[in-house]
Amino acid sequence: MALNSAVLTAFNEQINKEFYSAYLYLAMSNYFADCGLDGMAHWMKMQYKEETFHAMKLIDYVYTRRACVTLDNIAKPQGSWKSALEVFEAALAHEEYVTQSINDLIKVCRENGDVTSETFLLWFVNEQIEEEANTDEICNKLKILREGSSLYALDRELAQRVFTEPSDNE
Ligand code: FEO
Repeated sequence: MALNSAVLTAFNEQINKEFYSAYLYLAMSNYFADCGLDGMAHWMKMQYKEETFHAMKLIDYVYTRRACVTLDNIAKPQGSWKSALEVFEAALAHEEYVTQSINDLIKVCRENGDVTSETFLLWFVNEQIEEEANTDEICNKLKILREGSSLYALDRELAQRVFTEPSDNE
């Protein structure tokens, strides 16, 4: 069964949010690069890749369900912050917003009796748990460090992040 129009509209909106997320994290990466915090810039660049992957996963799904994606404008992201903690707190707030958005998308699927899409979106529900937890952990570390002499060590740690595309069933 092809996606109905209400569900398709909601998917298109979520795709735009995922691309905006990628754009926001790229802006954060650029901010850190400008500050000379290359590890944090790297971590945010991995986040940018992950968000692009999320958008593409949604796009592929829409076409599998015999519907067409409509791409919209991507809003301009914020470009500067006052501190590393402020950046990661903004990232956490953004992930909470995305979690709510996925929940709302599932609600639309449910209202339209689209069990297939609801099942597909469970991957994103689990992904959001991880996204929020990872960002929250870094916020907590930054609060502990209070941006003192250990900031350099945390920056080195974040430089180790690798993005691995999950297989379809993960
Ligand atoms: Fe695609 Fe970070 O949510």
